[in-house]
Amino acid sequence: MAPVATADSTTTATNGSTKPAKAAQPFNPFYSPDVTGDTDDGDYPFAKYKPHFPDVKWEPLGEIEVTDRGQFADPEKKSLFAAASNVQHLTPAIGTEISGIDLRQLTDQQKDELALLVAERGVVFFRDQEIDIHQQLDLARHFGPLHKHATTPVPREPGLEEVHVVYNDGSRRPDPSAFSKLELWHSDVSYELQPPSTTSLKVITGPPYGGDTLWSSGPGFQKYLEGLTAVHSAVAQADGARAAGHTVRREPVETVHPVVRVHPVTGWKSIYVNPGFTRRIVGVPKAESDAILELLFRQIAENPDFQVRFRWQPNSIAIWDNRVVTHSATFDFWPHTRHALRATPHGERPLSVEEYEKKTGKVAKDRQLELWQQQGLPLPKQDSTVSRGYTD
Ligand code: SIN
Repeated sequence: MAPVATADSTTTATNGSTKPAKAAQPFNPFYSPDVTGDTDDGDYPFAKYKPHFPDVKWEPLGEIEVTDRGQFADPEKKSLFAAASNVQHLTPAIGTEISGIDLRQLTDQQKDELALLVAERGVVFFRDQEIDIHQQLDLARHFGPLHKHATTPVPREPGLEEVHVVYNDGSRRPDPSAFSKLELWHSDVSYELQPPSTTSLKVITGPPYGGDTLWSSGPGFQKYLEGLTAVHSAVAQADGARAAGHTVRREPVETVHPVVRVHPVTGWKSIYVNPGFTRRIVGVPKAESDAILELLFRQIAENPDFQVRFRWQPNSIAIWDNRVVTHSATFDFWPHTRHALRATPHGERPLSVEEYEKKTGKVAKDRQLELWQQQGLPLPKQDSTVSRGYTD
């Protein structure tokens, strides 16, 4: 979930003077405020999962023990694939759709193989899943202890504080002037000390069309980035929640993570910065930090070679590895309702390339080369003498 943006708090009068505008209107397109005051649920079947902002306080998060289930998986994922009627990669770089599996019926072995597949493919999609939110949480708990979000809504039904609700309907018209498309790209709560791993989202009510979600696996990168770290911040999100009159259930944190992290199971490197929460590169001049982040953010958001776009249908579910992909939703579906529930397990504290190699004695790998190898494709020749398209 990207941070809440706040609409301008000043206006410029026609005589050129600047005066305070009406109170800043916090706006988050993932759960924008109801502007009509119409809270009639009618006969909406999922009213008990509509957004609720509990007025509670939680302690800061401490260190959490996590066992990455992908490490127990058969690298060929035979048990998972044997149960499927079809396994279809949606692009060469990212995204796979699996048919014929009921997520409620997975054995532990199949869940472990799914965790590994999600780590390799970034995101895996399933359709026609009857799984309810309690079962979705159980599945997520297999992958790690569940995260409780400090500001975003939870379902009205008690006991579901680990669920993250995404909700919009006809009374909440997105205001595109209040947020940029770029900052909607994010990796969930990347500011946490142990940000999420194998995360799932089920859209329980979707618009007839629109409301797609996109995932990006991020660019290849230069060795230079491997030594850098960056600050990820929850502050804007908490400020937005406070401005909207909601309780900030846990005080916001800012955490430094490596710019390139290594997945503990695959050993593959990935860029770990995102427009939603990454604020600056540590220890380099501001201009350099701005330039690097701008380049990386634009690659994430603009390079279709790394992206997959998913069209939700009733009972679709997506499972992605927040350690290796960034995602963004589209808000093109007003006045229709889009309502989704997310389960978000904690992963490990991100490891830099140096930390991973020291800890495991293994060499961290290039994701793209590994994918080509998996697909039986020849690796590109490194030839520095190739002309770079110079024209006179
Ligand atoms: C999320 O950021 O987890 C929600 C994405 C979506 O609503 O598609």
